[in-house]
Amino acid sequence: MPDPLPDKTHIAILISGAGSNMAALLYASRIGDCPYEVVLVASNDPAAAGLALAEAEGIATFALAHKGMTRENHDAAMEAAALEAGADTIVLAGYMRILSDGFVERWAGRMLNIHPSLLPKYKGLNTFVRAIAAGDSHAGVSVHLVTPELDAGEVLAQARVAIAMGDTPATLSARVKLAEHQLYPRAVAEYVARGTDPQYLFAKLREIALALPEVHERESHGSPGFRVGSEKSGKFFAHFADQHHGSRHIAVLVKTGGMDELLNLVETQPEVYFKPAYYGASGWVGVILNRASVDWDHVADWLERSWRSVAPTRLSRLHDAADMF
Ligand code: GRF
Repeated sequence: MPDPLPDKTHIAILISGAGSNMAALLYASRIGDCPYEVVLVASNDPAAAGLALAEAEGIATFALAHKGMTRENHDAAMEAAALEAGADTIVLAGYMRILSDGFVERWAGRMLNIHPSLLPKYKGLNTFVRAIAAGDSHAGVSVHLVTPELDAGEVLAQARVAIAMGDTPATLSARVKLAEHQLYPRAVAEYVARGTDPQYLFAKLREIALALPEVHERESHGSPGFRVGSEKSGKFFAHFADQHHGSRHIAVLVKTGGMDELLNLVETQPEVYFKPAYYGASGWVGVILNRASVDWDHVADWLERSWRSVAPTRLSRLHDAADMF
């Protein structure tokens, strides 16, 4: 039986106001083969217009006024609602709250925001007033990952919007909104689709593998792999498998200690590991990469362990020594 296709990413959208970006995200999710679906719209303002719209569209909603609550407690309630709804990514769309560090850290790499400026310019509020006052030729919009520092996370996508003669903050903001509605659904879709894109997954893997000492890339049976040692006599410690032999997994194959360990991993964590065709018999396990929220540190640990198991002793000794510093 083929493995099941990875699910769509479940997103929870947090809003405080009109929710026009939320609506743009929602409608885009219903067109074609969108890689995300909206499982919750939540707000810190029970009167937010966007909540009523989401309800009318049959989307689950959650509202909790923040007044009288600590930031941590309010964030915890929003987070619990998102988890309850099965969200694996949080999308902020006009959510006018500074989030506590703990909340942001728990969702690192899985929380996005849209900001009406061409970041790193004009973080914070009043971006249009500032762009016009500075005489800028363009304003714009940025989609970025959320990190504890305000509007400072990695920028994923941007759109430029020309500032026209006679533009006021109001006229400019209306046009930037149009750009936002184009950009946000696309940026979210591209971001969540990375997790099932073999090229993206291989590039991540490659970066980790090639950072280990004396590693070179080498094809084997039509798939890329990584060997340690000389070009001539190096040994494989990782193979990249892109949906091989009827499997829907995109995976890296690494060496376990043997069949017992392999079978135990596959039995106890079937969402992470599988026994690959052909390679399994010699103790190679598949670590699945096309699943929600891969822990790349965990992948790196496996690569290092696998590298160590075949690397010449002189190299693994050197590596041990380097680890001590
Ligand atoms: C947008 O301008 C967005 O850039 C900013 O907040 C506004 C939200 O508008 N972060 P809406 O509620 O999506 O209409």
